[in-house]
Amino acid sequence: MTEPISAGELAAETAKRRTFAIISHPDAGKTTLTEKLLLYSGQIGVAGMVRARKGGRATSSDWMKLEQERGISVSASAMQFPYKGTIINVLDTPGHQDFSEDTYRTLTAADSAVMVLDGGKGVEEQTRKLFAVCRMQRTPILTFINKMDLHGKDPLELLQEVEEVLGIQASPINWPIGYGSGFKGVITIASRQVMLFRKSELGGAAKADFTTISVDEARRSGALTDEEAAALRDELELLTAAGNPFSRDAFLRGEITPVFFGSALTNFGVEPFFDSFTELAPPPHAYPADASNGDTVDIDPCAQPFSAYVFKIQANMNPKHRDSMAYMRVCSGRFERDMVVKHHRSGKEIRLSRSYSLVAKDRNTVDEAFPGDVIGVINPGVFAIGDTVSLQGGFNYKPMPQFPPEIVAQIRPTDVLKHKQFEKGITQLAHEGAVQILRSYRNPKDPPLVAAVGKLQFEVLQFRLKEEYGVSSAIDFLPYRHSVYVLGDVKSLTLPMGTFMALDARDRNVLLLSAEWEKKYVREKNPDHQFPDFVR
Ligand code: G4P
Repeated sequence: MTEPISAGELAAETAKRRTFAIISHPDAGKTTLTEKLLLYSGQIGVAGMVRARKGGRATSSDWMKLEQERGISVSASAMQFPYKGTIINVLDTPGHQDFSEDTYRTLTAADSAVMVLDGGKGVEEQTRKLFAVCRMQRTPILTFINKMDLHGKDPLELLQEVEEVLGIQASPINWPIGYGSGFKGVITIASRQVMLFRKSELGGAAKADFTTISVDEARRSGALTDEEAAALRDELELLTAAGNPFSRDAFLRGEITPVFFGSALTNFGVEPFFDSFTELAPPPHAYPADASNGDTVDIDPCAQPFSAYVFKIQANMNPKHRDSMAYMRVCSGRFERDMVVKHHRSGKEIRLSRSYSLVAKDRNTVDEAFPGDVIGVINPGVFAIGDTVSLQGGFNYKPMPQFPPEIVAQIRPTDVLKHKQFEKGITQLAHEGAVQILRSYRNPKDPPLVAAVGKLQFEVLQFRLKEEYGVSSAIDFLPYRHSVYVLGDVKSLTLPMGTFMALDARDRNVLLLSAEWEKKYVREKNPDHQFPDFVR
């Protein structure tokens, strides 16, 4: 047993936590920025010494790419380390081939998000999807516009794009000085202090030094030409007159995003961004839950004893170790290993003895954890996505949002004699949250469809059906790539040709569509219906 701690100590540990996820489109620089966070926090001495072979991307986690490149052990699901007086928990949001429901679900465990945009590309598709989840939860979002060392879009245009495409106010905290190869650093808009960066001899592999001076000093020292200084002043005047002033409250409500410019590769602007992040990003917040009397209650991280919910279950693909790992976000109180907790859904008591911190291959036993932390618990088939565990019981965290599937398939056992095992496997795996099962609205008795957000989930499904239920299966993918939930009487809908109305496991209507434009079409043609992107 660990020593008991006081309420003050619990509050101090909680206040230090910054639990966040990075949302970005592949190649915007998420891995590079994460690696720089490790560099600036002192976790690694030199960044990017071993480059991955081109095209040799890892498939199960973006961080495995980092792990392979760097030869260091980073987490499969969350990394924790100290940074200038705070404790950072970075949650992995896989973005490449392995983009899936898990990527979305992980966002529910974050107190804030960092949106990384490629300065040359602006807001891309995956960023938009992940942003929508943050928006739904009102997660505060900080924006880092990356790759300013390359010639990209005009910064003002980028701000406009963020506002127009994402519908959030953008408030620049700093502004780039020079673009492309002439990118010298950033100016903090409020203080008008210029940060001029110098590349280290190791390039972006080591921290970049910077000096902080006024625009006049920069001009006098020759760091900025008269023209550059004048142009900078004009831009700042424009921003001050026409830009959105930053409001911390609006940021915490998810209505405004502070925007930072920089280059994760060269480290220019990276350290000021991390410093602002730790200042602005909120510590763990209260989570809403359903109390046993039906009321909604907010579970305060410090006022309640230990509680957590399962946001992700990772099956073990190693046949020697069948058990899977349930990842829990600690929402309140202190977790101590060997705690006996109440599992709300089953009503059972469970001892959390096999609990781990999430440093990939070497599972490190975790003895204690605090609100905002993520622990992995070996799952002997007890936990499902969204489950609540708590020391005292009596409440259940609000259900996870259900995300609209993007890939739909018919799946069948290759051996018809194994139909029973097949049904059992599919039902259990759907229950666990690995895939969704949909039925036809018109012909509910037709063979069910299997749906998910990412293709990798189907690979995992087939693998697990074989390994755990002894059933080989065949999959036929259907041409639906988009879906929306439908609230209202579906019989009166005006729909484009070729759509498919399905029912999910809780009899909600899911409209399957083959093209993105059809979403807009159905919304426009059916103003009396609602088409939410997520349901709970
Ligand atoms: P991701 O995790 O978001 O997918 O992106 P990642 O960090 O892997 O970066 C994608 C590519 O963009 C990498 O190049 C990386 O070096 C480059 N990159 C990241 N940040 C910056 C930046 O600030 N400036 C510039 N110029 N490039 C940046 P790559 O060629 O795909 O791989 P590598 O050979 O460099 O590893």
